[in-house]
Amino acid sequence: METITIRPGGPLKGELSVPGDKSISHRAVMFGAIADGVSRVRGFLTGEDSVNTARAFGAMGVGIDGLDTGDLIINGVGPDGLKPPEGALDLGNSGTSIRLLTGLLAGQGFGCTLTGDEYLCRRPMDRIVKPLSMMGAKVRGAGEKNYPPLTIEPSGRGKLTAISYNSPIASAQVKSSVLLAGLYADGVTTVTEPVKSRDHTERMLRYMGAELVEDGLTVGVRGGARLAAKDLTVPGDISSAAFFMVAAAITPGSDLLIRNVGINPTRTGIIDILRLMNAAITVEEPNSEGPEPVADIRVEYSELRGIEIGGELLVRAIDEFPIVCIAAACARGITTVRDASELRVKESDRIAAMAAGLDRLGVIARETPDGITIDGGCRIEGAEVDSHGDHRVAMSMAVAGLVADGGMTITDTACINTSFPGFAGLLESVR
Ligand code: S3P
Repeated sequence: METITIRPGGPLKGELSVPGDKSISHRAVMFGAIADGVSRVRGFLTGEDSVNTARAFGAMGVGIDGLDTGDLIINGVGPDGLKPPEGALDLGNSGTSIRLLTGLLAGQGFGCTLTGDEYLCRRPMDRIVKPLSMMGAKVRGAGEKNYPPLTIEPSGRGKLTAISYNSPIASAQVKSSVLLAGLYADGVTTVTEPVKSRDHTERMLRYMGAELVEDGLTVGVRGGARLAAKDLTVPGDISSAAFFMVAAAITPGSDLLIRNVGINPTRTGIIDILRLMNAAITVEEPNSEGPEPVADIRVEYSELRGIEIGGELLVRAIDEFPIVCIAAACARGITTVRDASELRVKESDRIAAMAAGLDRLGVIARETPDGITIDGGCRIEGAEVDSHGDHRVAMSMAVAGLVADGGMTITDTACINTSFPGFAGLLESVR
């Protein structure tokens, strides 16, 4: 089993870049694959999750080169050019892959099976099976919650029925799954969310020439829209940058510059949260070449204080909960997170995993059904902690090790490769 050991030490200094955004990398491959023409994608995340998405399209006859370097050439086959895969499509650990792909494949003329690792096969798919079934798709998983493997029966272009779906949860995976199915439906398919989730799908569909209707929290796409191949540079993943932002914010004397980070407003909750906690963060050189805004982010050490986090702010930082817990453990006072029950069905039950991890570090944390309360500002003890097979839990615990009393060993860390290959080496390079 792979482990990482971090020893406490001096400040983080200098500059770095983090790997490409995972959400955008998935979409770049999916949309490029069904576009007309050849797309060149630079800065594609070569982590396991997005590579699994690319391999799935390879298995459906899409020529994709450059997976080893992240400089991809995608030979789009058009909306109806995908071929039936020979076996099941294995999407590893990736919830985004399986949920978006299921929507995209629900309207194809062939059937297929989508599966993943033991963690993915414990994640509920009823949230997409329900709206896709309303559209006439035939998708099934195991049990009431439709756990993977998922089987999709053949449909056919234009055979799905456009719907107006009121999603009970703010989920970009649900929204995107329904919109992708909507490309193969007989009219305008819309999704309304309770709070706006990340909008990478909408931005990229528009960038590739699709017409979207948007009205407040409702977004819709017209069936039959064709996508035109486009070149794209994937920005650095703010969810990966977040580990370095918190690392610099909690380690005395630090001053770190993270270059070319995506600052899509639906993803920048972590910047707002850290600023509310009194972190010293500046966003420099903002620009946007393609569909997504990008900037450099500078973080200097400062004394943090506890805050309350919930609602829209939480949605805009949904993947940053584990690392926010570490910032909270280092902040003076109490931090409360609420409205976060979605975190119980991520790569792990992240509320339980972080409560257990913080307990090992001697930090007082109380789990609630939809969040956590953390008493910050006390000593963090070095310990051996388990990742629960969750990449973001593993990296968060590594960051805690920077300021612990004694070494911190994280077990079961191979999962880090799903989103952030080279994480441990990059962390050491700025110490
Ligand atoms: C993602 C959406 C979010 C996020 C996940 C990536 C996406 O999941 O947690 O890491 O790329 O659409 P939900 O849609 O379940 O909120």
